[in-house]
Amino acid sequence: MGSASRAVSCLCCPCKCLACGLFSCLCSILISLLVVVGVLALIFYLIFRPHMIAATVDSAALAQFDLAPNSALAYNLSVDITVRNPNKRVGLYYDDVESLALFQDQRFGYVQLDSFYQGTEESTKVSPQFHGQQPLQGDVNAANFRSQQTDGKFDVEVKLNARLRVKVWAFKVRGPKARITCPLSVPAPGNNAGATFKPTDCKVWF
Ligand SMILES: *[C@@H]1O[C@H](CO)[C@@H](O)[C@H](O)[C@H]1NC(C)=O
Repeated sequence: MGSASRAVSCLCCPCKCLACGLFSCLCSILISLLVVVGVLALIFYLIFRPHMIAATVDSAALAQFDLAPNSALAYNLSVDITVRNPNKRVGLYYDDVESLALFQDQRFGYVQLDSFYQGTEESTKVSPQFHGQQPLQGDVNAANFRSQQTDGKFDVEVKLNARLRVKVWAFKVRGPKARITCPLSVPAPGNNAGATFKPTDCKVWF
């Protein structure tokens, strides 16, 4: 009897393990466990996965974005992000919410935001405000800064991370970490020459 057919017989007749020893008994328990975990994962997938969170940046504005000769980047960036829970049966708690702002893969801004709850099919507006000063590393980045300044808009990436808890009916289950990434093109401060911010969809990972 091959191990595959033994596995099948274990699965089909768990009582048999009383008769055929410890190995078969362990094998039967293990396989039942795998099946239960598999079914739970499938149920969770069917409930949750088909409807990912959606996030859009509705507006982003730079009141200040200056690179001093000593490479200090002085910034004041406001962003409005709408996060939507499209699920009909699943509520979401967002904990440890943090937002990051990056220029040329260098993080210059960081803010911690309040936790929030999102009922089924609800949207939440999150508005991180970044301001301060941060040294910008590297001559290439300074050169990129100048050329984008000439173009009148800056490529800035804004991220939103949160630890999720999932509410299904009366149950609250620890969920995955959500990572939302929004690649933005933001008009330079004081640029009134027609450069307006276009609403941008974000990518969501778990
Ligand atoms: C940043 O810009 C906003 C919008 O112009 C302004 O209200 C706010 O006072 C500025 N913050 C700082 C620290 O300069």
